[in-house]
Amino acid sequence: MALARGSSMLLSLVVVLCMSVAGSASDFKVGYYWESCPKAEDIVKEELYNAFKANAGIGADLIRLHFHDCFGCDASILVDSTQGNIAEKDAPPNKTFEDEVFDVIDSIKARLEVACKGTVSCADIIAFAARDSVVQYGGKYYNVPSGRKDGMVSIANETVDLPPPTLNLNQLTAMFASKGLSQDDLVILSGAHTIGVAHCPSFADRLYNYSGTLKGDPSLDVEYAKQLKHECPQGNTVNEVDMDPQSPLTFDSSFYEDVASNRGLFTSDQTLMSTSTTAYKVSQYAKYPEFFKKAFAASMVKMGQIGVLTGKQGTVRANCRVIN
Ligand code: HEM
Ligand SMILES: *[C@@H]1O[C@H](CO)[C@@H](O)[C@H](O)[C@H]1NC(C)=O
Ligand SMILES: *[C@@H]1O[C@H](CO)[C@@H](O)[C@H](O)[C@H]1NC(C)=O
Ligand SMILES: *[C@@H]1O[C@H](CO)[C@@H](O)[C@H](O)[C@H]1NC(C)=O
Repeated sequence: MALARGSSMLLSLVVVLCMSVAGSASDFKVGYYWESCPKAEDIVKEELYNAFKANAGIGADLIRLHFHDCFGCDASILVDSTQGNIAEKDAPPNKTFEDEVFDVIDSIKARLEVACKGTVSCADIIAFAARDSVVQYGGKYYNVPSGRKDGMVSIANETVDLPPPTLNLNQLTAMFASKGLSQDDLVILSGAHTIGVAHCPSFADRLYNYSGTLKGDPSLDVEYAKQLKHECPQGNTVNEVDMDPQSPLTFDSSFYEDVASNRGLFTSDQTLMSTSTTAYKVSQYAKYPEFFKKAFAASMVKMGQIGVLTGKQGTVRANCRVIN
């Protein structure tokens, strides 16, 4: 009994210690701005809606931006390079973002600075905008815990920990695990590839030189490969293709239908069929779109918590492109 009481006290002590290291729970929660900037989330939504009217593809960029940022969730991906520093946005996997996506963040930030100066972080803007984009495409709404602070460094080669599209299931699972995400999160979050576009170099190896064989990937559906070769002649670096040709701007389950019929665009997509566990999940998410959308919302919340800075850590940047 005494032992049990002692160990439960020790446990509470450990819990309290961990919480004070991570910042208190009230520093990161749903509705963090409800008092300090009640209109924050509405402003993000309105600006995003305007951006969508001009370019319906912008939300895909924003969702992907949230993913890239969140292998840190501190908006370091928004920082511009300076004479002495090449920033993360100019590192190869991050270079495929349209300038427009950074302009949208700037216009949201400008309105927020007028409404509540120095209050809403760039990292939270990305998280809200990604959620609102999911909703715009027909995905499920979810509450976004907020209170993220913006990072103080952005150096291109500091960490190269974003997965390239050539990875297999084991490699991807390990990368996600290193960020606290499960293999199920991997299967679910990959479903984001139901919207948006990819540039030819992201999958050209599968058409022309798979694993150095000088041939295409034999596992790729023949008709689909033919269509992709037409859209991406060998050596082309500028063309883009829809990642889910059936419905490129709809947040539905068709990514999983594509993958289940050997029409996944990247090796990293098709590899979800390589074990019976993950293949079964693909079939379930293909069959039950509402189940997928709900799971996606939950995994986005999880992804949005990776490496957040809260409380006195980090800063709220005045301009998302410049470290204060
Ligand atoms: C599992 C590992 C992942 C890999 C290897 C991967 C890789 C890629 C690549 C190579 C592109 C195309 C870039 C280009 O050529 O322009 C892309 C696009 C995209 N990715 Fe992923 N991705 C992964 C996971 C995710 C996750 C977790 C999300 C979000 C939750 C996401 C959302 C997107 C979106 C929305 C696009 C389209 C962007 C646009 O239309 O501008 N991806 N991804
Ligand atoms: C791309 O940006 C993300 C988010 O800022 C960062 O974690 C990653 O290290 C960057 N990639 C490279 C190669 O710098
Ligand atoms: C990283 O980038 C800096 C300049 O931004 C450069 O001086 C350094 O050599 C680079 N390190 C590596 C490992 O590439
Ligand atoms: C094919 O791939 C191999 C290894 O990935 C590479 O060494 C070779 O240069 C490539 N050949 C062509 C023609 O792209």
